Amino acid sequence: MSQIRSVISGVGSYLPERIVTNDELSKTVDTSDEWIRNRSGIHERRIAADGQYTSDLGTQAAKNALEDAGLSADDLDLIIVATTTPDFTFPSTATIIQENLGMRQGAAFDIQAVCSGFIYAVHIADAMLKAGPYKRVLVIGAETFSRILDWTDRTTCVLFGDGAGAMILSREENAENGIINNFIRSDGRYCNLLQVDGGPSRTQTVGHVRMEGKQVFKHAVKDIALAMKSCAAEVDLEPSAIDWFVPHQANQRILDGVARQLGLKPEQVISTVAKHANTSAASVPLAFDAAVKDGRIKRNDLIMLEAFGGGFTWGATLLRY
Ligand code: UT7
Repeated sequence: MSQIRSVISGVGSYLPERIVTNDELSKTVDTSDEWIRNRSGIHERRIAADGQYTSDLGTQAAKNALEDAGLSADDLDLIIVATTTPDFTFPSTATIIQENLGMRQGAAFDIQAVCSGFIYAVHIADAMLKAGPYKRVLVIGAETFSRILDWTDRTTCVLFGDGAGAMILSREENAENGIINNFIRSDGRYCNLLQVDGGPSRTQTVGHVRMEGKQVFKHAVKDIALAMKSCAAEVDLEPSAIDWFVPHQANQRILDGVARQLGLKPEQVISTVAKHANTSAASVPLAFDAAVKDGRIKRNDLIMLEAFGGGFTWGATLLRY
Protein backbone atom coordinates (compact mmCIF):
# COMPACT_ATOMS: atom_id res chain seq x y z
CA MET A 1 0.00 0.00 0.00
CA SER A 2 1.35 3.44 -0.87
CA GLN A 3 2.32 5.77 1.95
CA ILE A 4 0.44 9.09 2.09
CA ARG A 5 2.31 12.02 3.61
CA SER A 6 1.41 15.65 4.35
CA VAL A 7 4.25 17.56 2.74
CA ILE A 8 5.09 21.20 3.45
CA SER A 9 4.57 23.07 0.17
CA GLY A 10 5.22 26.53 1.55
CA VAL A 11 5.66 28.64 4.68
CA GLY A 12 5.09 32.31 5.43
CA SER A 13 4.73 34.76 8.25
CA TYR A 14 3.82 38.32 9.08
CA LEU A 15 4.72 40.68 11.92
CA PRO A 16 3.05 44.05 12.57
CA GLU A 17 5.32 47.03 11.95
CA ARG A 18 5.34 48.55 15.42
CA ILE A 19 8.22 47.40 17.65
CA VAL A 20 7.82 47.90 21.40
CA THR A 21 11.07 47.56 23.36
CA ASN A 22 11.45 46.58 27.01
CA ASP A 23 12.62 50.12 27.77
CA GLU A 24 9.42 51.50 26.29
CA LEU A 25 7.35 49.20 28.53
CA SER A 26 9.34 50.21 31.61
CA LYS A 27 7.94 53.75 31.18
CA THR A 28 4.38 52.58 31.81
CA VAL A 29 4.78 49.57 34.11
CA ASP A 30 7.15 48.79 37.02
CA THR A 31 9.69 46.67 35.14
CA SER A 32 13.11 46.95 33.48
CA ASP A 33 14.90 45.80 30.35
CA GLU A 34 17.31 43.87 32.57
CA TRP A 35 14.55 41.92 34.38
CA ILE A 36 12.70 41.00 31.18
CA ARG A 37 15.90 39.92 29.35
CA ASN A 38 17.25 37.90 32.29
CA ARG A 39 14.00 36.12 33.16
CA SER A 40 12.58 35.54 29.67
CA GLY A 41 15.15 36.38 26.96
CA ILE A 42 12.70 38.88 25.42
CA HIS A 43 14.17 42.15 24.04
CA GLU A 44 11.19 43.46 22.09
CA ARG A 45 7.81 42.49 20.66
CA ARG A 46 5.55 43.58 17.78
CA ILE A 47 2.16 45.13 18.49
CA ALA A 48 -0.66 45.32 15.94
CA ALA A 49 -1.86 48.77 14.86
CA ASP A 50 -5.30 50.09 15.73
CA GLY A 51 -7.68 48.61 13.20
CA GLN A 52 -5.33 45.73 12.39
CA TYR A 53 -6.91 42.42 13.40
CA THR A 54 -5.88 38.80 13.84
CA SER A 55 -7.46 38.01 10.45
CA ASP A 56 -5.29 40.72 8.81
CA LEU A 57 -2.07 39.24 10.24
CA GLY A 58 -3.20 35.73 9.28
CA THR A 59 -4.15 36.80 5.75
CA GLN A 60 -0.73 38.35 5.16
CA ALA A 61 1.07 35.25 6.49
CA ALA A 62 -1.16 33.08 4.26
CA LYS A 63 -0.36 35.17 1.18
CA ASN A 64 3.35 34.82 1.91
CA ALA A 65 3.00 31.04 2.31
CA LEU A 66 1.02 30.77 -0.95
CA GLU A 67 3.73 32.73 -2.75
CA ASP A 68 6.42 30.50 -1.23
CA ALA A 69 4.53 27.43 -2.47
CA GLY A 70 3.85 28.92 -5.92
CA LEU A 71 0.11 28.37 -5.33
CA SER A 72 -3.04 30.49 -5.26
CA ALA A 73 -6.14 30.43 -3.02
CA ASP A 74 -7.88 28.41 -5.79
CA ASP A 75 -5.55 25.51 -4.96
CA LEU A 76 -6.66 25.22 -1.31
CA ASP A 77 -9.49 23.08 -0.02
CA LEU A 78 -9.25 23.78 3.70
CA ILE A 79 -8.12 26.54 6.07
CA ILE A 80 -7.49 25.83 9.75
CA VAL A 81 -6.68 28.82 11.97
CA ALA A 82 -5.27 28.33 15.46
CA THR A 83 -6.03 31.42 17.53
CA THR A 84 -7.04 32.51 21.02
CA THR A 85 -7.61 36.08 19.90
CA PRO A 86 -10.21 35.75 17.11
CA ASP A 87 -11.60 38.88 15.45
CA PHE A 88 -15.06 37.95 16.80
CA THR A 89 -16.63 35.28 18.99
CA PHE A 90 -18.09 34.23 15.63
CA PRO A 91 -17.74 33.93 12.66
CA SER A 92 -14.42 32.13 12.78
CA THR A 93 -11.28 34.03 11.87
CA ALA A 94 -10.67 31.26 9.31
CA THR A 95 -13.78 32.21 7.31
CA ILE A 96 -12.74 35.89 7.36
CA ILE A 97 -9.31 34.88 6.01
CA GLN A 98 -11.04 32.66 3.42
CA GLU A 99 -12.92 35.76 2.22
CA ASN A 100 -9.79 37.96 2.34
CA LEU A 101 -7.96 35.44 0.13
CA GLY A 102 -10.89 35.32 -2.32
CA MET A 103 -11.23 31.56 -1.79
CA ARG A 104 -14.65 30.42 -3.05
CA GLN A 105 -14.34 26.67 -2.46
CA GLY A 106 -13.54 24.34 0.42
CA ALA A 107 -14.04 24.91 4.13
CA ALA A 108 -12.49 26.95 6.93
CA PHE A 109 -12.60 26.71 10.72
CA ASP A 110 -10.76 27.83 13.86
CA ILE A 111 -9.30 25.67 16.59
CA GLN A 112 -8.47 26.71 20.15
CA ALA A 113 -5.56 25.21 22.06
CA VAL A 114 -3.92 28.49 23.10
CA CYS A 115 -0.12 28.43 22.63
CA SER A 116 -0.27 24.78 21.46
CA GLY A 117 -2.81 25.68 18.78
CA PHE A 118 -0.50 25.40 15.80
CA ILE A 119 0.68 21.91 16.83
CA TYR A 120 -2.93 20.81 17.30
CA ALA A 121 -3.91 22.34 13.93
CA VAL A 122 -1.08 20.59 12.10
CA HIS A 123 -2.19 17.29 13.65
CA ILE A 124 -5.79 17.88 12.49
CA ALA A 125 -4.64 18.92 8.99
CA ASP A 126 -2.37 15.86 8.70
CA ALA A 127 -5.22 13.54 9.73
CA MET A 128 -7.68 15.18 7.30
CA LEU A 129 -5.19 15.02 4.43
CA LYS A 130 -4.58 11.33 5.12
CA ALA A 131 -8.31 10.59 5.47
CA GLY A 132 -9.22 12.56 2.33
CA PRO A 133 -10.73 14.02 0.27
CA TYR A 134 -8.57 17.07 1.11
CA LYS A 135 -5.46 17.72 -0.93
CA ARG A 136 -4.18 21.07 0.29
CA VAL A 137 -4.63 22.60 3.72
CA LEU A 138 -3.55 26.07 4.80
CA VAL A 139 -2.68 25.99 8.52
CA ILE A 140 -2.33 29.37 10.23
CA GLY A 141 -1.35 30.45 13.74
CA ALA A 142 -2.41 34.09 14.20
CA GLU A 143 -2.71 36.21 17.33
CA THR A 144 -3.22 39.72 18.63
CA PHE A 145 -2.45 38.84 22.24
CA SER A 146 -1.87 42.54 22.96
CA ARG A 147 -5.69 42.88 22.95
CA ILE A 148 -6.18 40.49 25.92
CA LEU A 149 -3.28 41.70 28.09
CA ASP A 150 -3.76 43.67 31.29
CA TRP A 151 -1.22 46.41 30.57
CA THR A 152 -0.96 47.17 34.30
CA ASP A 153 0.05 43.58 35.20
CA ARG A 154 3.84 43.39 34.87
CA THR A 155 3.86 39.61 35.40
CA THR A 156 2.14 39.03 32.03
CA CYS A 157 2.12 42.14 29.82
CA VAL A 158 5.88 42.11 29.17
CA LEU A 159 5.84 38.53 27.85
CA PHE A 160 3.57 38.55 24.79
CA GLY A 161 3.45 39.96 21.27
CA ASP A 162 1.39 39.88 18.05
CA GLY A 163 2.07 38.06 14.78
CA ALA A 164 1.09 35.25 12.42
CA GLY A 165 2.67 32.30 10.68
CA ALA A 166 1.33 29.93 8.01
CA MET A 167 2.15 26.56 6.48
CA ILE A 168 0.62 24.86 3.44
CA LEU A 169 0.39 21.08 3.72
CA SER A 170 -0.22 18.97 0.60
CA ARG A 171 -1.27 15.33 0.31
CA GLU A 172 1.39 13.35 -1.55
CA GLU A 173 1.77 9.64 -2.17
CA ASN A 174 5.09 7.89 -1.57
CA ALA A 175 6.79 11.11 -0.45
CA GLU A 176 10.04 10.93 1.51
CA ASN A 177 9.32 14.25 3.20
CA GLY A 178 6.44 15.58 5.28
CA ILE A 179 4.84 15.07 8.67
CA ILE A 180 6.21 11.90 10.30
CA ASN A 181 4.41 11.90 13.63
CA ASN A 182 2.19 14.04 15.86
CA PHE A 183 1.78 13.95 19.63
CA ILE A 184 -0.77 16.06 21.52
CA ARG A 185 -1.86 16.06 25.16
CA SER A 186 -3.90 18.16 27.56
CA ASP A 187 -4.59 18.14 31.29
CA GLY A 188 -7.53 20.25 32.49
CA ARG A 189 -6.49 19.98 36.14
CA TYR A 190 -4.21 22.95 35.50
CA CYS A 191 -6.67 25.20 33.65
CA ASN A 192 -6.51 27.87 36.39
CA LEU A 193 -2.73 28.36 36.20
CA LEU A 194 -2.84 30.02 32.79
CA GLN A 195 -6.16 31.46 31.73
CA VAL A 196 -8.16 34.47 30.60
CA ASP A 197 -10.54 35.76 33.26
CA GLY A 198 -13.44 36.38 30.90
CA GLY A 199 -15.44 34.84 28.09
CA PRO A 200 -18.84 34.94 26.36
CA SER A 201 -20.60 32.37 28.55
CA ARG A 202 -19.12 33.15 31.98
CA THR A 203 -18.70 36.91 32.01
CA GLN A 204 -19.84 38.27 28.64
CA THR A 205 -16.45 40.02 28.49
CA VAL A 206 -13.22 39.21 26.67
CA GLY A 207 -11.09 39.11 29.84
CA HIS A 208 -7.35 39.38 30.44
CA VAL A 209 -4.48 36.88 30.59
CA ARG A 210 -3.65 35.62 34.11
CA MET A 211 -0.71 33.32 34.77
CA GLU A 212 1.09 31.61 37.66
CA GLY A 213 4.38 31.90 35.78
CA LYS A 214 6.62 29.79 38.02
CA GLN A 215 4.27 26.82 38.05
CA VAL A 216 3.66 27.04 34.30
CA PHE A 217 7.43 27.11 33.77
CA LYS A 218 7.99 23.86 35.70
CA HIS A 219 5.26 21.96 33.85
CA ALA A 220 6.38 23.35 30.48
CA VAL A 221 9.96 22.07 30.69
CA LYS A 222 8.91 18.62 31.92
CA ASP A 223 5.96 18.11 29.56
CA ILE A 224 7.67 19.48 26.45
CA ALA A 225 10.69 17.21 26.91
CA LEU A 226 8.40 14.18 27.44
CA ALA A 227 6.27 15.09 24.40
CA MET A 228 9.32 15.34 22.16
CA LYS A 229 10.70 12.03 23.44
CA SER A 230 7.33 10.30 22.93
CA CYS A 231 6.83 11.81 19.46
CA ALA A 232 10.25 10.51 18.38
CA ALA A 233 10.01 7.14 20.20
CA GLU A 234 6.69 6.28 18.51
CA VAL A 235 8.57 6.17 15.20
CA ASP A 236 11.72 4.58 16.67
CA LEU A 237 13.82 7.74 16.66
CA GLU A 238 15.92 9.39 19.35
CA PRO A 239 15.40 13.18 19.75
CA SER A 240 19.18 13.52 19.24
CA ALA A 241 18.62 12.49 15.57
CA ILE A 242 16.84 15.76 14.76
CA ASP A 243 18.57 18.59 12.88
CA TRP A 244 16.46 21.47 14.18
CA PHE A 245 14.30 22.10 17.21
CA VAL A 246 11.57 24.71 16.49
CA PRO A 247 9.91 25.39 19.85
CA HIS A 248 7.09 27.56 21.09
CA GLN A 249 8.74 30.87 22.04
CA ALA A 250 7.65 31.54 25.63
CA ASN A 251 10.94 31.87 27.47
CA GLN A 252 14.60 31.37 26.46
CA ARG A 253 15.20 29.54 29.75
CA ILE A 254 12.50 26.96 28.81
CA LEU A 255 14.14 26.47 25.40
CA ASP A 256 17.57 26.01 27.01
CA GLY A 257 16.21 23.60 29.66
CA VAL A 258 14.42 21.40 27.09
CA ALA A 259 17.43 21.38 24.74
CA ARG A 260 19.68 20.30 27.64
CA GLN A 261 17.31 17.49 28.62
CA LEU A 262 17.25 16.19 25.06
CA GLY A 263 20.98 16.53 24.42
CA LEU A 264 20.52 19.14 21.67
CA LYS A 265 23.17 21.78 20.95
CA PRO A 266 22.17 25.45 21.45
CA GLU A 267 22.81 26.11 17.74
CA GLN A 268 20.11 23.52 16.83
CA VAL A 269 17.45 25.56 18.62
CA ILE A 270 15.54 28.10 16.51
CA SER A 271 14.91 30.96 18.91
CA THR A 272 12.95 34.09 18.00
CA VAL A 273 11.81 34.89 21.52
CA ALA A 274 14.16 37.91 21.77
CA LYS A 275 12.46 39.68 18.86
CA HIS A 276 8.93 38.24 18.80
CA ALA A 277 8.22 37.48 22.50
CA ASN A 278 5.43 34.94 23.04
CA THR A 279 2.98 35.13 20.12
CA SER A 280 1.00 32.10 21.34
CA ALA A 281 -0.23 29.96 18.41
CA ALA A 282 1.78 32.06 15.94
CA SER A 283 5.16 31.46 17.55
CA VAL A 284 6.07 28.08 16.03
CA PRO A 285 5.25 28.94 12.38
CA LEU A 286 6.87 32.38 12.83
CA ALA A 287 10.11 30.74 14.05
CA PHE A 288 9.93 28.05 11.35
CA ASP A 289 9.54 30.64 8.58
CA ALA A 290 12.36 32.80 9.99
CA ALA A 291 14.77 29.84 9.91
CA VAL A 292 13.71 28.80 6.39
CA LYS A 293 14.12 32.35 5.11
CA ASP A 294 17.56 32.85 6.72
CA GLY A 295 18.75 29.56 5.20
CA ARG A 296 19.24 27.51 8.36
CA ILE A 297 16.38 25.06 7.76
CA LYS A 298 16.82 23.32 4.41
CA ARG A 299 14.80 20.75 2.46
CA ASN A 300 15.20 17.20 3.87
CA ASP A 301 16.17 18.42 7.36
CA LEU A 302 14.58 16.49 10.23
CA ILE A 303 12.69 18.91 12.49
CA MET A 304 10.83 18.74 15.79
CA LEU A 305 8.17 21.37 16.55
CA GLU A 306 6.75 21.69 20.05
CA ALA A 307 4.43 23.88 22.08
CA PHE A 308 2.94 24.24 25.54
CA GLY A 309 0.09 26.46 26.70
CA GLY A 310 -3.10 27.09 28.62
CA GLY A 311 -5.32 24.15 29.47
CA PHE A 312 -2.68 22.84 29.96
CA THR A 313 -2.21 21.75 26.36
CA TRP A 314 1.03 20.60 24.81
CA GLY A 315 2.40 18.62 21.92
CA ALA A 316 5.10 17.95 19.35
CA THR A 317 5.35 17.36 15.61
CA LEU A 318 8.16 15.48 13.90
CA LEU A 319 8.64 16.25 10.21
CA ARG A 320 11.07 16.11 7.35
CA TYR A 321 10.96 19.48 5.55
O1 UT7 B 1 3.00 30.35 26.43
C1 UT7 B 1 2.46 29.68 27.52
C2 UT7 B 1 3.54 29.20 28.37
N1 UT7 B 1 4.03 30.27 29.20
C3 UT7 B 1 5.17 30.08 29.78
O2 UT7 B 1 5.76 29.06 29.55
C4 UT7 B 1 5.67 31.08 30.78
C5 UT7 B 1 6.34 30.35 31.92
N2 UT7 B 1 6.85 31.19 32.97
C6 UT7 B 1 7.89 32.01 32.79
O3 UT7 B 1 8.39 32.18 31.70
C7 UT7 B 1 8.50 32.68 34.02
O4 UT7 B 1 7.95 32.08 35.19
C8 UT7 B 1 8.26 34.22 34.06
C9 UT7 B 1 9.13 34.90 33.00
C10 UT7 B 1 6.80 34.52 33.84
C11 UT7 B 1 8.66 34.77 35.43
O5 UT7 B 1 9.99 34.41 35.76
P1 UT7 B 1 10.35 33.82 37.21
O6 UT7 B 1 11.79 33.62 37.28
O7 UT7 B 1 9.45 32.61 37.42
O8 UT7 B 1 9.95 35.02 38.16
P2 UT7 B 1 8.85 35.09 39.31
O9 UT7 B 1 7.48 35.00 38.76
O10 UT7 B 1 9.23 34.14 40.40
O11 UT7 B 1 9.07 36.56 39.85
C12 UT7 B 1 10.27 36.94 40.53
C13 UT7 B 1 10.13 38.35 41.02
C14 UT7 B 1 8.87 38.59 41.85
O12 UT7 B 1 9.17 39.48 42.88
P3 UT7 B 1 9.44 38.95 44.38
O13 UT7 B 1 8.19 38.19 44.76
O14 UT7 B 1 10.63 38.03 44.26
O15 UT7 B 1 9.66 40.19 45.12
C15 UT7 B 1 7.93 39.26 40.86
O16 UT7 B 1 7.00 40.11 41.49
O17 UT7 B 1 10.04 39.26 39.91
C16 UT7 B 1 8.91 40.09 40.05
N3 UT7 B 1 8.39 40.40 38.70
C17 UT7 B 1 8.89 41.40 37.97
N4 UT7 B 1 9.84 42.32 38.19
C18 UT7 B 1 10.09 43.19 37.21
C19 UT7 B 1 7.44 39.76 38.01
N5 UT7 B 1 7.29 40.31 36.80
C20 UT7 B 1 8.17 41.34 36.76
C21 UT7 B 1 8.49 42.30 35.77
N6 UT7 B 1 9.46 43.20 36.04
N7 UT7 B 1 7.89 42.32 34.56
